[in-house]
Amino acid sequence: MGLDVTVNSISVDEIESIVILDRLCFGGLWSIDSYRRELTNDNSHFLGVSIDKALRPETNGIIGFGCFWAILDEAHITLLGVHPEYQRQGLGKLLLIALLDKARSIEMARATLEVRESNQGALLLYEQFGFQTVGRRKKYYQDTGEDGIIMWRGGLQDPNFRHIV
Ligand SMILES: CC(C)(COP(=O)(O)OP(=O)(O)OC[C@H]1O[C@@H](n2cnc3c(N)ncnc32)[C@H](O)[C@@H]1OP(=O)(O)O)[C@@H](O)C(=O)NCCC(=O)NCCS
Repeated sequence: MGLDVTVNSISVDEIESIVILDRLCFGGLWSIDSYRRELTNDNSHFLGVSIDKALRPETNGIIGFGCFWAILDEAHITLLGVHPEYQRQGLGKLLLIALLDKARSIEMARATLEVRESNQGALLLYEQFGFQTVGRRKKYYQDTGEDGIIMWRGGLQDPNFRHIV
């Protein structure tokens, strides 16, 4: 990939960096209060990918993040974003691997997420990891009237689980 990166859990101390990244990746999806709830919720697992802080001081080196909620034995992936200047370098895959590994380590059996129907890049990424479309929420996204595509990936505890593509 050429980038020297680390993947770590994100704590509430890094909330300001996360809000800056949220604006860059999603155009302002969640408020700071939503992130605070997320980062202090015991059922929420929040991971970030970082480079040297000196290269991205405004986000303390964090250039991507992902999160899931553990609900019973289901990992509900709520966020996945990579800084626009670092996209298409494998970091989305790296984060998804890390999220699924974390989910596997805490005995989750399956993972689910929802994605805009127009987000072809994300859809391709999830399909590469074995996520399958199981339904749609009609006109779920109010800003564009797009459908939300609901995807699931089972078999996380399968001994033959292979998620690296
Ligand atoms: C979706 C997102 C997280 C992908 O991150 P990324 O670091 O660019 O992804 P990767 O480099 O690991 O790409 C993995 C694969 O996903 C697919 N993909 C990702 N972005 C793509 C794009 N813009 N167009 C086509 N395919 C794309 C490709 O199959 C790619 O594999 P390849 O590069 O070998 O062809 C990133 O584009 C992003 O943050 N987008 C804005 C926020 C968002 O839409 N998040 C998802 C919400 S559900």
